[in-house]
Amino acid sequence: MPGKTLIAYASKGGATSKSASIIAEVLKTDYGHDVDVVDLHENKRPDISGYDNVVIGSGIRIGMWYGRAKRFLGTDFTGKKVAVFLSSMRAGDPKQYEEARAKYIDRVLSKKMKTAPVAAEAFGGWYKKKGEITDNNHEPDKVRAWAVELGRTLSS
Ligand SMILES: Cc1cc2nc3c(=O)[nH]c(=O)nc-3n(C[C@H](O)[C@H](O)[C@H](O)COP(=O)(O)O)c2cc1C
Repeated sequence: MPGKTLIAYASKGGATSKSASIIAEVLKTDYGHDVDVVDLHENKRPDISGYDNVVIGSGIRIGMWYGRAKRFLGTDFTGKKVAVFLSSMRAGDPKQYEEARAKYIDRVLSKKMKTAPVAAEAFGGWYKKKGEITDNNHEPDKVRAWAVELGRTLSS
């Protein structure tokens, strides 16, 4: 049976928001999920009852998760499948990916999450100056591939 999935994200520059849209599209189109996408800067504590799955996304600035997403990670997700993704320039640089993953994913999730996620991934991001993207290592193809894999995990 297709799942009901909430994607809750915090984004300041737009990369995490873009990834959330890609993931939503894959889960809807390829897996028939009923998906809601919520911006945590508009709704800091979305109601998770009624969802089978929750996907949480955040951007990284000065080595930290955005506050809204970090707080949301501490929610009690008992009985739900949870997945996590983030956007970070370091994660998009192959030379810094492993370090970014250890610092921004492994360390943060082990401290903050009560429920172990079924999947967690770090993607690249972008820098903007005066509203224009000036440096971009966002990885839409990697996001899409991860979402396909995630859809399989959530449907099993
Ligand atoms: C002020 C500032 C600080 C940043 N600090 C980091 C950092 O510590 N590590 C990193 O990997 N990327 C850093 N970045 C890059 C962001 O991770 C990148 O802009 C990403 O796209 C943020 O996600 P968002 O676009 O969804 O807000 C920084 C960007 C800005 C503007």
